[in-house]
Amino acid sequence: MSTSFRMDAPYPRVLDRTAQGVIHRPLDRPEGPLKVTGRATYAAEQALEGQVEGVLVRATVARGRVTGMNDALVRAMPGVLGVFADARFLRNPAQGGAGEAPVQGSTEVFYHGQPVALVVAETFEQARHGAAALALRYEEAEAQLDPETAESVDRPDKRKLDQGDLDAAMADAHAKVDVTYTTPPHHSAAMELHASVAEWTGDRLTLHGSFQMLKYNKAELADALGIPRERVRILSPYVGGGFGSKLGISPEAVAAAIAAHELGRPVRVVMTRQQVFGMTTHRTSTRQRMRLAADAEGHLTAVGHEDRVYNLPGESFSEPTAQSTHFLYSGVNRRLGQEVARVNRTCAGSVRAPGEAVGMLALEGAMDELAHELGLDPIAFRKRNIPDRHPEKDIPYSARRFADCMDEGARLFGWDARNPTPGQLHDGEWLIGHGMAAAARVNMVSASQARVILRPEGTALVETDMTDIGTGTYAILGQIAAEMLGLPIAAVEVRLGDTDLPPAAGSGGSHGASSAGSSVFVACESLRTTLAERLGCAPDDLTLKDGIATGANRRAKFAELLSDGALSEEGHFEPGRTKKEVSQASYGAFFAEVGVNRITGETRVRRMLGTFAAGRILNEKTARSQCQGGMIWGIGAALTEELAFDPRDGHVVNQDLAEYHLPVNLDCPQIEVQLLEERDDMACPIQSKGIGELGISGAGAAVVNAIYNATGARVRDYPATLDKILGGLDD
Ligand code: MOS
Repeated sequence: MSTSFRMDAPYPRVLDRTAQGVIHRPLDRPEGPLKVTGRATYAAEQALEGQVEGVLVRATVARGRVTGMNDALVRAMPGVLGVFADARFLRNPAQGGAGEAPVQGSTEVFYHGQPVALVVAETFEQARHGAAALALRYEEAEAQLDPETAESVDRPDKRKLDQGDLDAAMADAHAKVDVTYTTPPHHSAAMELHASVAEWTGDRLTLHGSFQMLKYNKAELADALGIPRERVRILSPYVGGGFGSKLGISPEAVAAAIAAHELGRPVRVVMTRQQVFGMTTHRTSTRQRMRLAADAEGHLTAVGHEDRVYNLPGESFSEPTAQSTHFLYSGVNRRLGQEVARVNRTCAGSVRAPGEAVGMLALEGAMDELAHELGLDPIAFRKRNIPDRHPEKDIPYSARRFADCMDEGARLFGWDARNPTPGQLHDGEWLIGHGMAAAARVNMVSASQARVILRPEGTALVETDMTDIGTGTYAILGQIAAEMLGLPIAAVEVRLGDTDLPPAAGSGGSHGASSAGSSVFVACESLRTTLAERLGCAPDDLTLKDGIATGANRRAKFAELLSDGALSEEGHFEPGRTKKEVSQASYGAFFAEVGVNRITGETRVRRMLGTFAAGRILNEKTARSQCQGGMIWGIGAALTEELAFDPRDGHVVNQDLAEYHLPVNLDCPQIEVQLLEERDDMACPIQSKGIGELGISGAGAAVVNAIYNATGARVRDYPATLDKILGGLDD
């Protein structure tokens, strides 16, 4: 049996009336013990019967064609089983299907480091030896390596907007800023390496991999191989982080599948850390011109946000830099637009909050600058510009506790005690400053399906091809089912990460919890109706708790109601009219205290607070953890993170976790997260919204605004490394 639900209108707040009391609670992740004891088997840890090892070989030119290679020599090396140079894994299907399909028979090279061959051998060492010996010959072509000078195309779609008269509003402004912010390329830098183990049984492929969106990944893999989708099964039960880099399949999956097919043996291909940095998707750099104008009362009259990003030629994705600028603040005269430079670098794709993560560094910096120009408190200025209706689409907002987040956060942080004049607070050789910024991330939901099986002995099984990329999916899907079915959390088992299970939304765009959670909810609603019928009460009168149903003065154990066996129900959730009719987003506010060393220009974040409202919080611990993680990325974006490409050939220079500077424990101060109570009735039937990427969306701007408050130095070129601050310090 299956039940479908489309989100066309608000749904009753069922989860506010259930009795089990496990929703929202900070329960542990059930797979946690498996992970910390090494019993959760990740893709690279598969050891299949007869498995052999593949090592990818990468192009050493930025643009051109492979014209030949010494593969005969490599094939004759000890243990080597094959050398595969197949056009099907040359390009990187980056964005859950949005990437361009590789051209059959093509040997084109689009970027330095692109995978061009796979060497397979009995052992990893033999394969690596063979890969090192494989010499390719190229016909080189001219590459475009500089995003500033490369030819570009305009995004003519909905990202382009020219509303009212921005130039006139700027000319007439009481106060204004016209500033350009830049952000560097970023890498997802997930802990788990991209890895695939492919095994064929007849014409059916089973691939153990590490992916975020299995429904799409299965289609991508089948399309890349040119086989029907039904013949592909992907298993991804545990994923050690993705952050966007595992939204689409990556070359090692296709390469492993091709080699395994040819050799008739399972093939494992694990990228090295350097390969992960140099051949999986990364985030484009951005150049963002911000124009903001305000009248004497501090009301925005103009909002201009025009950006330049890049991607490979032909790729359809471009960073939606101004995503939250569209809806966050009022101002009738608006100009937004984007140019996409075509450069020969690794594919640019989604990385941790594509859009807001870098767009809000510029927007929230410029807002801070204009508040300063106006002599207004940054919070008062923002609150004055919260629009009643979406300033471009003229539609209402769903639940939006943006102002409350700023007010509550300010209280908890002690914002009023700061000194608004830059450079006033000292602690020895450290200049102390405080800054804030808004948090906002669009809310998305996607079609998602799950099966819930309720058994007479009072246990339940949730099954879906949803992934848990470290976000807490196992925990929250179990909590939703336990809450809805009145079962202790330990009585619910959740099975994920297998494309033979009902197709889910996947983990991306912070839509996973709401979408997959709603599909579990829909299935459970239907099961509740069946239980109510069998008990003889109206569904609204049914109470389920600890495996006992009560209603209409009756009481029964599940065993009695399910005497003819387990119930199985599939829930199908899909977005509906509320997606278009209201503007949905999660909101928050960041507060940072920094110390800037007046001698060296070094910045240390001393404390940081994020206050968030994202609809119903399904698990207070996993939600908090997501927000903390986001704020850590925010500190990285503000101070250290920068993926460097060699200007001569476009190769990734800092291609490991030592040289790509993510914040480590010592860089992260006390990070506090405050979650406000909220229900978003327009978002989904469980009234939750996306929280996974909210914690990064604006976080870095709070840090850089605090640097300004500490020093009077305004850094607009991220990250705010000490060399950029030193010049702004007094001697
Ligand atoms: Mo996210 S960057 O959509 O995985």
